[in-house]
Amino acid sequence: MSKIEISLPRNCGLYTATEFDEYCQKAVAAKETLLQGKGNDFLGWTTLPQARDTAMLQSIKEDAARVESNSQLFVVIGIGGSYLGARAVVEALRSELQSLCPNQNAPLVVYAGHTLSEDYYSQLLQVLDKYHYSVAVISKSGTTTEPAIAFRIVKNHIEKKYGKQEARQRIFAITDAQKGALHTIATNEGYKRYIIPDNVGGRFSVLTPVGLLPIAAAGIDIDQLMAGAADMLKTCTQMPPQQNPALQYAAIRNLLYQKGKKVEMLVSFLPTLRYMSEWWKQLYGESEGKDHKGILPHSLCFTTDLHSMGQYVQDGERHLFETLISVEKAHTHVEIPFDEQNLDGLNYLLQKSLNEINHCAEQGTTIAHTNGGVPVVKIQMPEISAYTLGQLIYFFEFACGVSGYMLGVNPFDQPGVEAYKKNMFALLGKPGYEDLRKTLEN
Ligand code: PA5
Repeated sequence: MSKIEISLPRNCGLYTATEFDEYCQKAVAAKETLLQGKGNDFLGWTTLPQARDTAMLQSIKEDAARVESNSQLFVVIGIGGSYLGARAVVEALRSELQSLCPNQNAPLVVYAGHTLSEDYYSQLLQVLDKYHYSVAVISKSGTTTEPAIAFRIVKNHIEKKYGKQEARQRIFAITDAQKGALHTIATNEGYKRYIIPDNVGGRFSVLTPVGLLPIAAAGIDIDQLMAGAADMLKTCTQMPPQQNPALQYAAIRNLLYQKGKKVEMLVSFLPTLRYMSEWWKQLYGESEGKDHKGILPHSLCFTTDLHSMGQYVQDGERHLFETLISVEKAHTHVEIPFDEQNLDGLNYLLQKSLNEINHCAEQGTTIAHTNGGVPVVKIQMPEISAYTLGQLIYFFEFACGVSGYMLGVNPFDQPGVEAYKKNMFALLGKPGYEDLRKTLEN
């Protein structure tokens, strides 16, 4: 298996084969709507892997090489769709423990602009005092408050550390081609700029410079990432439902939703996929959670969370289904040592690898949850690599577009995310928000 594959919940007693076929036909219709793109200006992501902007990719690789030569840290400033995709891929391939290994060549990616925590920035500045670093500031609108504040703080630091001239060589701005405060700052200061295409929304932007520059700076092969995405594009756009994991996934989740399964838990048995889950939550939550509809996307990392949430999943309210990312191979091997005394009783495991043990836990969990009334959709990956992650990203994106149309919402807008911002601006005393402030104070 070189490609990711999907297998559906069997014998869960929730739906018939005929019902599933009907939902597959609905998925085919939704796919046509998506590919026709009528009336939607945010479908640029659908063709990114195929279109492959080679000049942009080459420039990113050159900048990543420069960052590797002069920086120990790469600070990625962004929030939501402007950082989660990069973090998902970087952390899938570069665990936090790996960053402690002294022979790691590529810079360690650290994040800012995703929080307003004062203590976080205080600690970040202490770290930046100690190490050489470069910065990518990423904002499509160029006006989002969290990354704007983070960039002001980091810009001040980097200019003091290296002087304005060198700081300019260490800052990369990824933003709109023409508008926004970040575009203005980057143009005035002469930073290297990358463009976020107008027709690609934040949560679908990982295969643009938004994701690609941080991923390349972490030493990950972006050509392989794009190749995986391009192969999955062909599968998603050309194959019939029986051989099309995206259509099957969109069909099963809408069918289960109609059967009362209102919460989807994305689970894996690898802690390195934690940020893949965070990226997926934004992708599906922001795309489908509107008009008072939509599956609630939730995530768990097993076996860790079996010791905290396992009870609820097994026995709590039956409004759950599980989407399991199952990864066949591990890249490395750790011996379980023989112990003559065997006081812990673990010698029976000596013939097995940790990966096999993890898979037994996975299989046992899947059977238990299925028997407990939690259907499990399984996404199988042969291994975690840049290529398979490219496939996974495109698979989830395409399925999301199809699934949103099946649900009857516009999967490419996000009208609900502005509400908190308006209140925050009013409470902060931002000019133009005086009337709202008065309303909030009464
Ligand atoms: O998907 C989205 O639209 C959001 O998550 C945005 O990416 C996020 O709010 C950051 O916006 P911006 O890139 O404009 O700073």
